[in-house]
Amino acid sequence: MDKRIISSNLMVDDEIEVTLRPRTFLEYIGQHSVKDMMSIAVQAAKKREESLDHVLLYGPPGLGKTTLAAVIANELQVSMKTCSGPTIERTGDLAAILTSLEPGDVLFIDEIHRLPKIVEEILYSSMEDFVIDIVVGKDAGAKSIRVDLPPFTLIGATTRFGDLSGPLRERFGIVHRLDFYSDSDLETIGRRTAKIYDCPFEETAIIELAKRSRGTPRIVNRLFRRVRDYADILGDGTITYQITCQALEKLKIDESGLDRKDREYLGAIIDKYKGGPVGLETLATSISEDPLTLEDVYEPFLIQKGFLSRTPRGRVATEKAYRHLKKTYQDRLF
Ligand code: ADE
Repeated sequence: MDKRIISSNLMVDDEIEVTLRPRTFLEYIGQHSVKDMMSIAVQAAKKREESLDHVLLYGPPGLGKTTLAAVIANELQVSMKTCSGPTIERTGDLAAILTSLEPGDVLFIDEIHRLPKIVEEILYSSMEDFVIDIVVGKDAGAKSIRVDLPPFTLIGATTRFGDLSGPLRERFGIVHRLDFYSDSDLETIGRRTAKIYDCPFEETAIIELAKRSRGTPRIVNRLFRRVRDYADILGDGTITYQITCQALEKLKIDESGLDRKDREYLGAIIDKYKGGPVGLETLATSISEDPLTLEDVYEPFLIQKGFLSRTPRGRVATEKAYRHLKKTYQDRLF
């Protein structure tokens, strides 16, 4: 897969991002209604001296699910242990994590839709009754031992709500979808990042950055760092409007925030499949991309911005996509 500016697995950037992460609800920008509801739930749990109900956060990548989980743990004044669905391969792996928790702790499981079925099944009793049944021994000698767990809060994160099994979904008392951020919230995040990096900037530069960041905080911060490189090398370190536009041009990020891959994707629907409808698998093969990546990473923003529609017969490029790529919409009719 192309190493994209918005991909979610660039280790160096992710590590730097940790220093940018807000620690409290007050510092956490955007997602106003989710934040308000979570803040009440956290305060109520603390007042009653109970563990917080299990929380499921879902939505496209980069919108701050992990960040919000860390804020929740911090506000609860408990520790958070983090793991990811595909890395918990055996029931023993989960048992080891669960038995290491202190009362009230948060267990954060990213990509929870990718937990192996057998692991998911032992999670049910842990979530519901704070007990876990571990099988020891083999064959005829095998027996099940029940182990009590401290009360804990599971925070699950997923980009694919629909892939979660019904029984798992039902065990979360609090379920929130994170949405793309408004330009104004992204501007606030950009200003905060500039302040943390102690980097002078022009207001118009931050507005432009926010506008081109696909509604995604992780992208504002990534683009900020790339533009800062340009400002340090080509200018006096100030993030100006002019340098921002130059850097974004070099990164091939257009005025709507679409990158090369987005344009290739929409261009393929228009040029190879007459604007669609075309099936996801066919499209993915034609641009050498993984269908799940297209679905999780690229499509949600293109759909939200009205460049793409998903129909029962396949993907369709909208008139707006034609206009954006400067193709005549009449092409479709002939
Ligand atoms: N960095 C990443 N997400 C953020 C958010 N929602 N608020 C503040 N800073 C962030």
